[in-house]
Amino acid sequence: MINAVITGIGAYLPETKLTNDDLSKMVDTNDEWIMTRVGIKERRILKTEGSGASDMGALAVKDLLAKKGLQPSDIDLVICTTVTPDAPIPSTAAIICDKCDIRDAHSFDINGACSGFLFGLDLCAQYVRSGSKKRVVLVSTEKMSSITDYTDRTTCVLFGDAATAVLVEPTEEHVGLMDSNLHTDGFGRHWLKIIAGGSVKPSSHETVDNHEHFVYQEGKQVFKYAVTRMADATVDIMQRNNLTASDIAWLVPHQANLRIIDATAERMELPKDKVMINIQNYGNTTSATIPLCLYEWEKQLKKGDNLILAAFGAGFTWGALYLKWGY
Ligand code: UT7
Repeated sequence: MINAVITGIGAYLPETKLTNDDLSKMVDTNDEWIMTRVGIKERRILKTEGSGASDMGALAVKDLLAKKGLQPSDIDLVICTTVTPDAPIPSTAAIICDKCDIRDAHSFDINGACSGFLFGLDLCAQYVRSGSKKRVVLVSTEKMSSITDYTDRTTCVLFGDAATAVLVEPTEEHVGLMDSNLHTDGFGRHWLKIIAGGSVKPSSHETVDNHEHFVYQEGKQVFKYAVTRMADATVDIMQRNNLTASDIAWLVPHQANLRIIDATAERMELPKDKVMINIQNYGNTTSATIPLCLYEWEKQLKKGDNLILAAFGAGFTWGALYLKWGY
């Protein structure tokens, strides 16, 4: 039986750092509040004029291709997860393909918000398992600074920019994506959203004046559901695969809030040293948080390690994946 497995990871992180001290000069906030309520110390911000999600995504793909010794023509499919596309059309995936000289691949964007990497990886696996694609690149690129209101202290401390690219290939070994537990419930769409700029409320002077092109979040409501749903999905996928905490090498959680991560690990009865946490360095980079953890921990991962990936985000979308690491 053919399964799909991650065989490589590339990334791009902008150089500019935005620290809590920088933010405390912009809005009424402080390092102590941000560290205790969220757990973030600094984030990366893409400052280059005229650069967007595709530029970061293309650099992540180029990093991946170089690491794997692959040519652009080796890639069959590029799926891009983003909530900050360069523009509504063309797709950011198409622009990334152009910037990477990938000329003949199938490509498209998906938007699963903070669960985008989980939704994307599950989709990549379907293509690979069916035999229709052999080398699939999943790019997760988010220029969150472009939709963050730096006059709103309740959201501007949370987000950062980053891009990652993972390669998904077929395998006949007992590794790869073992199970997916993915969900959406649109009842949550009012608590985490961008109000204007789409077909319901196109851009106007008024929408710009009202800051309606930025992320709007009712943090407490989102927090309440994030804590329960992310942990429920995680415990559920462990139970249905007969896994206990001692079987798990790593929890790879979405990095939105350290308290949400801790609550999920606690429900799994997993010790903290088995949880990938880098929120302090990058903040919430939406669909890029989970692959960015995999990228940073890549050298510590061993073939056959059991990983649980878990996320919660706008929609609401949430879920968990069970992976057996492949290299
Ligand atoms: O990734 C997608 C999914 N998103 C999430 O999972 C995020 C979920 N939500 C959260 O992580 C948290 O709700 C936040 C980190 C966004 C906020 O933390 P909180 O503990 O829920 O704080 P809060 O919104 O209840 O605000 C508590 C107080 C308020 O002041 P009052 O009304 O008690 O006087 C806020 O105005 O903290 C105030 N506050 C701040 N103070 C200093 C809010 N933001 C800040 C700030 N600095 N940056």
